[in-house]
Amino acid sequence: MGLPISAERLTCTYSGEGTAVHALREVSFELAAGSLLTVVGPSGSGKSTLLAVLAGLQRASSGTVRIGDREITGMTERELLRFRREHLAVVVQDARRNVLPFGTVLQNLRFAAEPAPRHRRREPLSLLTRLGLARLAHAPVDRLSGGERQRVAIAAALSVRPDVLLLDEPTSALDRRARDDVLDLLDEQVRGSGSTVVVITHDPAVERRLGNVLRLADGSVVTA
Ligand SMILES: Nc1ncnc2c1ncn2[C@@H]1O[C@H](COP(=O)(O)OP(=O)(O)OP(=O)(O)O)[C@@H](O)[C@H]1O
Ligand SMILES: [Mg+2]
Repeated sequence: MGLPISAERLTCTYSGEGTAVHALREVSFELAAGSLLTVVGPSGSGKSTLLAVLAGLQRASSGTVRIGDREITGMTERELLRFRREHLAVVVQDARRNVLPFGTVLQNLRFAAEPAPRHRRREPLSLLTRLGLARLAHAPVDRLSGGERQRVAIAAALSVRPDVLLLDEPTSALDRRARDDVLDLLDEQVRGSGSTVVVITHDPAVERRLGNVLRLADGSVVTA
């Protein structure tokens, strides 16, 4: 079952040598359990940073994120690891970081599903079939194309039936048909399994189809 997400005045500032980058400036939103949010905005507007903060992969400078009745922003690394394993699935923007650099497609999906309790795991072959990847089940992942790898990452994320699914540009390397397969699966995940889903996209077709848009510009939410 999905969990509600609430972000309150999230700020994230990267400070290296030289000047600080204000990647997020007081971003707030509410997302009900079992619904979907589409995050859009120009390159560099803070989309991936927002997703990383929601996933507990990046610390916010201030503000809070709550998922269900837990405050992510207050958790220790250990608590975060456990929370992620129990409730979240994340597909990051850099496709190579979503799959293991070795093993077959099927082995990758099984590995991804392993931490989830048995009743939540989803049959990997049926997922691969839905994404047009059945013939690649036994292919080594290091020989996949970019678009194939991207779909394997999505299949791996869905294979645990997550309460919360966070996807950063999940269709950026796909053609229209593969993109529609992914969107159909996401729809099902929300309507059928009641997952709460956050999708980042720069594709207007994806934005139109998914709706419920949060627009970022220069780290802030743009209100229409
Ligand atoms: N680890 C980091 N250290 C310093 N600055 C960073 C870091 N990660 C991101 N930034 C900066 O923060 C800002 C927001 O980056 P982010 O990756 O969140 O943008 P984005 O909206 O996902 O862009 P894109 O559409 O290109 O993926 C950018 O100015 C970027 O250069
Ligand atoms: Mg990004």
